Amino acid sequence: TQPALVDKFGRTITYVRLSVTDRCDFRCVYCMSEDMEFLPRDEILSLEEIGRLARIFQGLGVKKIRLTGGEPLVRKDILTLIQDIGSLGLDDFTMTTNGSQLPKLAHELKAAGMDRLNISLDSLDAEKFRRITRTGDLTRVIKGIDTAVEAGLKGIKLNSVIMKNSNDHEVLDLVDFARERGIDISFIEEMPLGEISDHSRDQTFCSSDEVREIIEQRYELIPSTVDTGGPSRYFRMPDSQSRIGFISPHSHNFCGDCNRVRMTVEGRLLLCLGNEHSKDLRDLLREHPEDDEPIRQAIISAMDLKPREHHFTTDGDVQIVRFMNMTGG
Ligand code: GTP
Ligand code: 5AD
Ligand code: SF4
Repeated sequence: TQPALVDKFGRTITYVRLSVTDRCDFRCVYCMSEDMEFLPRDEILSLEEIGRLARIFQGLGVKKIRLTGGEPLVRKDILTLIQDIGSLGLDDFTMTTNGSQLPKLAHELKAAGMDRLNISLDSLDAEKFRRITRTGDLTRVIKGIDTAVEAGLKGIKLNSVIMKNSNDHEVLDLVDFARERGIDISFIEEMPLGEISDHSRDQTFCSSDEVREIIEQRYELIPSTVDTGGPSRYFRMPDSQSRIGFISPHSHNFCGDCNRVRMTVEGRLLLCLGNEHSKDLRDLLREHPEDDEPIRQAIISAMDLKPREHHFTTDGDVQIVRFMNMTGG
């Protein structure tokens, strides 16, 4: 049988990123402005609606679901949704989190059926960490990472956005932090989403090649064939089970084999992170509480809206006014 979700460029969609809240307890400089306003309660999908979407997507051939935010773990009762999606039997059920709630919740996530976790960690210096996240507590996040490792989640990956004159001198420390725990780490090139007044991206942009050169001063990087279905290109090191990933939206465009779409917490199906093409599903969900077919059809026809690629630049130009916390990246 034909896969159900195929776009105009022949790309099959098997990965959906569901944003479960736009709220977050951090205010990372590359993600939010300091005085961020969040959506009113009645504009966001209920946990039941998000769970329903997950089932509909699975019926359309989706194999991998990632929960994102904001910070997914600050949403009230999120564990009920995690159990709901955890019981669907997907190939991969995972979450991107800032780690602050993991000391409390890591074991419960594992019990609820979560396979993997990506945890953001941009600095190992408490003061720097605070400057980048504006409100985050490094000790708590490290405790969260260690609790997740201890809980036995199958795959834990760190995400670091590297910025010049900020945390670029910490690349090797971050690699060693991951190596000590036998977990993976991805380095991410910053993307221009949302206008953030006190953060000038054109001065902080750091390419994956620059990060790679730093790592290669200490470790040999061997290309790895592993494919998590995400945009990361992986390398391994001869003497460690940790892998190093590079997410390079600027320097190595990966749009050609894009396999994913996103749902914002307002119920907007977003076809590409770097474009605004979208289809509102919230009204349909509410107009048809019992019948999934209209929603299935809307999702299938929305595939035609998926653009070929994003057009990010590194000169500080913001093309997308939407902030990163609407999609969790
Ligand atoms: P894995 O499933 O572990 O491969 O994770 P992932 O890289 O798909 O997800 P994660 O949430 O950890 O995202 C890491 C970074 O990749 C974030 O900065 C995302 O914004 C970015 N990213 C993920 N998918 C896309 C995409 O389709 N386009 C762009 N430009 N960036 C993406
Ligand atoms: N550019 C690149 N990555 C970003 N993230 C948040 N905002 C940006 C941005 N502007 C990262 C977070 C998190 C992941 C989901 O996206 O650090 O790890
Ligand atoms: Fe919160 Fe993640 Fe955005 Fe940081 S990057 S403010 S942790 S949603």
